Amino acid sequence: SNPSLLILPGDGIGAEVMAEVQRVIGWFGDKRGLAFDVSEDLVGGAAYDAHGTPLHDDTMARAQEVDAVLLGAVGGPKYDDLDFSVKPERGLLRLRKEMDLFANLRPAQCFDALADFSSLKKDIVAGLDIMIVRELTSGSYFGEPRGIFEEDGQRVGINTQRYTEAEIDRVARSAFELARRRNGKVCSMEKANVMESGILWREVVTAVHKDYADVELSHMYADNGAMQLVRAPKQFDVILTDNLFGDILSDCAAMLTGSLGMLPSASLGAPMENGRPKALYEPVHGSAPDIMGQGKANPIACILSFAMALRYSFDQGTEAARLETAIEGVLADGVRTGDLLGDANTTAVSTSGMTDAILA
Ligand code: NAI
Ligand code: MG
Repeated sequence: SNPSLLILPGDGIGAEVMAEVQRVIGWFGDKRGLAFDVSEDLVGGAAYDAHGTPLHDDTMARAQEVDAVLLGAVGGPKYDDLDFSVKPERGLLRLRKEMDLFANLRPAQCFDALADFSSLKKDIVAGLDIMIVRELTSGSYFGEPRGIFEEDGQRVGINTQRYTEAEIDRVARSAFELARRRNGKVCSMEKANVMESGILWREVVTAVHKDYADVELSHMYADNGAMQLVRAPKQFDVILTDNLFGDILSDCAAMLTGSLGMLPSASLGAPMENGRPKALYEPVHGSAPDIMGQGKANPIACILSFAMALRYSFDQGTEAARLETAIEGVLADGVRTGDLLGDANTTAVSTSGMTDAILA
């Protein structure tokens, strides 16, 4: 049977860019004989409107069964005043948690034609292609004890940076596996100089490396890592780091490449029975209420997220590269959505116009 894909367009431009991904999926079926069993369902505000919950149990169950989930974006002003328990982002958080997606993959890739968009000088970023692997389900954002407590007549805010060996081991394996498919280098970032969790992190990553002797491993303190990312980002291939440092370092890396409308992501969990990892693919951007309904959204982040699905869930690296090369070509030809317009001399294409160009 065909590999299965659950599509959750969500809210705002999430639905608009996902409609374009559907066209891309259709193209691969028609032109490359790559057929998927695609089902579509609601998430976020759209699910709340229909069911009073941002993720219906049936949708959650379906997400656990399929080979990969593709999500657009959730949220919007319409839902800002909802109770926290039913807020749109709770739908996304539930997916991540129940699918146990512990490895968050954030590529930072700079297409030559967009090098001017970077916050850095062109020669520092042109041709950049790095991947940050951020641990997503543990660390400071989840560790106990946490809370605001009363102590000696004043309040104290507490979070706990906590990692077990098993948690470090599995995300390290994800990073090494990835490096094997890329340029064979992993740089692990922590603060082993001042943090116990950092000492353990470095120890476990070094131990896991014994199973990946073909991959080159280096270690770096995360603060130096932030500096190096901005000074000379091309020295890296795969960066492996924890939840908190990864949150910051991946946002920093994102700005090396320019527009939010260009950034894909993947979140991977443990292998399923068929050997494929549990997987959720989504653009980094949100539902962009300021441009929704106007045909202005850049579909590339979402299309590149599908390319990641082709590569990491369906072993179709060649087809993923075909898609990425088409996007690179279109950008080199000067095709631009509004978010990529540097100067007033060019005119923007619409969301579907961008997809037309990529498919052509
Ligand atoms: P946002 O990412 O939706 O938008 C930030 C800015 O970037 C806006 O000016 C928007 O027009 C622009 N932008 C984003 N994606 C674009 C694209 N594909 N093409 C062209 N321009 C694009 O972040 P914001 O405004 O902070 O949040 C809006 C809503 O989205 C909120 O409800 C927020 O909670 C939600 N959100 C959802 C996320 C998710 O579903 N993973 C992630 C971030 C925000
Ligand atoms: Mg962040």
